[in-house]
Amino acid sequence: MSGTGAPPAGATPERPSPGGPGEGVAAASGADAARAEGTGQPPPCLLEVRSAGKTFGGVIALREVSMRVRAGEVTCVLGDNGAGKSTLIKILAGVHAPDSGQYLVDGAPAAFTSPRDALDRGIATVYQDLAMIPLMSVWRNFFLGAEPRLGRGPFRRFDVAGARRTVREELRSMGIDIRDVDQPMGTLSGGERQSVAIARAVHFGARALILDEPTSALGVKQAGVVLRYIAQARDRGLGVVFITHNPHHAYPIGDRFLLLNRGTSLGEYGKADITREELTALMAGGAELEQLAHELGRPARPRR
Ligand SMILES: Nc1ncnc2c1ncn2[C@@H]1O[C@H](COP(=O)(O)OP(=O)(O)O)[C@@H](O)[C@H]1O
Ligand SMILES: [Mg+2]
Repeated sequence: MSGTGAPPAGATPERPSPGGPGEGVAAASGADAARAEGTGQPPPCLLEVRSAGKTFGGVIALREVSMRVRAGEVTCVLGDNGAGKSTLIKILAGVHAPDSGQYLVDGAPAAFTSPRDALDRGIATVYQDLAMIPLMSVWRNFFLGAEPRLGRGPFRRFDVAGARRTVREELRSMGIDIRDVDQPMGTLSGGERQSVAIARAVHFGARALILDEPTSALGVKQAGVVLRYIAQARDRGLGVVFITHNPHHAYPIGDRFLLLNRGTSLGEYGKADITREELTALMAGGAELEQLAHELGRPARPRR
């Protein structure tokens, strides 16, 4: 584990190092997305996937799937288990290269060979398991792999006070109310852990934030907490990709909705083009639900 550079006391450290437990969430700085400003052209999408396909052995995980992610917007990816959601975000995150189709970042083809390449372009991913260390303090987890240092050369030491202060300020600035940054990460609720992971990505300069089912294991109230931080990240200008199988979590916060079913796209919709009811029906496979309701209904009892 290595700190990068030798920032002065209290300075913002550079991005986390690759690998190790810190990889669950990380980010990097990058140029502003609105580079086409002044040319009269709309800026290119932050991230864009065109007709991407991916197979694993005989399994077609994705077939001709397209999606766009813009800065300051939330793109939701919805689908049941096995729909290909994680495969799609692993393409965005540089874990997999698509077998066919294209992946563009800032309008230019991305040729990522590792998640590190994506991180270097400001594409941060928070995976479901978060990859944090439960017995370590909140502030240590926040800086895993990117500890702020004091001094130079062999005399560099970990700036503990600066790290604590930075974490406290960063959490407060996002409205995250954690009593004590010294408490072990494992004592936080699931929603708080997700929130810390989001704050961490924002702190390290993410432009795109990819969240794989951050609300799926949470109760209603906790899910609401996480949705608020997603809105905050969006309001700070990040392009957010929010993966979920719950249309009730997606609809209030989403600007765009991509629906996946067994690896194929059921369509990409802007919010104006789809109602919550339509989204729910598409997601559940309306016909399948009706069939199920029919099956589960009580058979009519014979009259005595
Ligand atoms: N590394 C892999 N090797 C083999 N099959 C995989 C791999 N990753 C995903 N799959 C398969 O691809 C399909 C889509 O999986 P996934 O993207 O994880 O779906 P979701 O996240 O929507 O539940 C599934 O059938 C899954 O078994
Ligand atoms: Mg998944």
